[in-house]
Amino acid sequence: MGNNNQGWLLLVGILLILNLPYSLAFGGNENKINTAVFLSPKFVLGPGSVENRFYYNVDFPKGHIALKSFNAEVVDEAGNPVPLHETYLHHWIVGRYFVRKGVEISEFDDSAKFNKSDYISGRNSGICQNLGQFFGLGSETRKTATHIPDPYGIEVGNPAEIPSGFEEQWMINVHAIDTRGVEDKLGCTECRCDLYNVTVDEYGRPLRPDYKGGLLCCYDRVQCRVKQGFEGVRRILYLRYTVKWIDMDSSVLPVKVYIFDITDTWKRTRNSTGINAEHQCKVEYDIEPCHATGLADDGCVDTRRISLDMPFGGYLIYGVAHQHSGGTGSALYREDGQVMCSSLPTYGEGEEPGNEAGYIVGMTTCYPQPGAIEISRGETLILESNYSSIRHHTGVMGLFYILVADQLPNPMHTLHTYIQIQGSITLMAILWAVVAMIGVVAVIAVGIRYRLKRGGEDGYEAVGM
Ligand SMILES: *[C@@H]1O[C@H](CO)[C@@H](O)[C@H](O)[C@H]1NC(C)=O
Ligand SMILES: *[C@@H]1O[C@H](CO)[C@@H](O)[C@H](O)[C@H]1NC(C)=O
Ligand SMILES: *[C@@H]1O[C@H](CO)[C@@H](O)[C@H](O)[C@H]1NC(C)=O
Ligand SMILES: *[C@@H]1O[C@H](CO)[C@@H](O)[C@H](O)[C@H]1NC(C)=O
Repeated sequence: MGNNNQGWLLLVGILLILNLPYSLAFGGNENKINTAVFLSPKFVLGPGSVENRFYYNVDFPKGHIALKSFNAEVVDEAGNPVPLHETYLHHWIVGRYFVRKGVEISEFDDSAKFNKSDYISGRNSGICQNLGQFFGLGSETRKTATHIPDPYGIEVGNPAEIPSGFEEQWMINVHAIDTRGVEDKLGCTECRCDLYNVTVDEYGRPLRPDYKGGLLCCYDRVQCRVKQGFEGVRRILYLRYTVKWIDMDSSVLPVKVYIFDITDTWKRTRNSTGINAEHQCKVEYDIEPCHATGLADDGCVDTRRISLDMPFGGYLIYGVAHQHSGGTGSALYREDGQVMCSSLPTYGEGEEPGNEAGYIVGMTTCYPQPGAIEISRGETLILESNYSSIRHHTGVMGLFYILVADQLPNPMHTLHTYIQIQGSITLMAILWAVVAMIGVVAVIAVGIRYRLKRGGEDGYEAVGM
């Protein structure tokens, strides 16, 4: 009993000590991080069914703020996370727009019906014409870091940026596929047209005969082939999203959002500038199986690379790629081959949400030291996207999101953070040394007691294990 109490005291002591540098380093006058958790409008999915909706005027933090992170996942009515092998989250996208004040937009409106004079896109900074979102991920969403380090943030709600007479609102697109009981889970998640028995697109236009799979075959309310006799209930689901933000003030440095796409057909011309209008991004592509290409020695890796001239400059703060199953990594290089940022998939190994075997459950991200990676305006960068070509894949993606800052923290701020970090590291080191010493002393003391009690040499082993 006595021994036990001592153990507890030691543990409490360690916890108290470990807490100290935390409050020293992060307490004080820091801009407070706000967190809000929202649910998208509900959607209902039965076995094999697809939902691909755009929800307008969704819940979102208001005011002049800097976004710090955005995470999302599919949950059921009870709020339980739903695993990818039941509801595959193909993607979700968050976009901004401005709407004329007084014009009512409901969650289920169709943007095609908006009066163009009442609606202005509030897109990101580039560079694909058709990819204007601020955030967007898919199956990897549960284990992909999205936080933006201090002192940076994505500035939104800036009254100076909102056209006069308009207000800022947010849109969420959710594309989810229910694969309970389907014949071919991977095929359904890759939107293979034959499994959906789809030959015309959403608007009734016939598909090219060589179009085997992709978004044109898994639009809202199509149905993937289910095993005969499989019965499954229709379920009510939501996208639950968590937004973190701080109030905008002069200590926050804004970052801009850029998205690159491996299918971008941009080519340098004599007068090209690299601006958005020149970029045609197809978003999806197919991976031909390696035996079909006849290249036996390529290790069955499909590597795509494109060159892009940057129409902007700044400091890289964050980067992440979006790939589908089969993806083996993506990277941004300088022209001389130097890696600027690489993002690799993590595949799940189990059953539970966040670790589903065979699915990409996370992507690694880049957080370069601010200032360490500068992009110059006009610089040529290389985007690379790798997939395993052991089997055929349709509708895969190779997107790359980066956050870029115009400014570095001013020297005072940098020095301040530096001292803070250095200070807490030194303090941490000292405290760890103290904890370690206490630990060693305690172990020896207990060990000696043990030995005295048991009088044998095996006592040490028992303590030391
Ligand atoms: C769109 O709005 C403008 C200005 O408010 C108005 O003049 C026009 O008639 C509207 N068009 C439609 C099709 O409602
Ligand atoms: C596939 O679609 C065709 C034409 O739309 C229809 O006649 C046929 O019954 C469908 N097959 C299945 C298995 O649903
Ligand atoms: C380049 O200039 C030519 C002639 O002015 C024009 O036709 C062409 O569209 C331009 N190309 C681009 C990519 O802007
Ligand atoms: C992509 O594949 C190529 C060729 O196998 C390899 O050299 C490169 O390092 C890979 N890139 C990433 C980001 O995994």
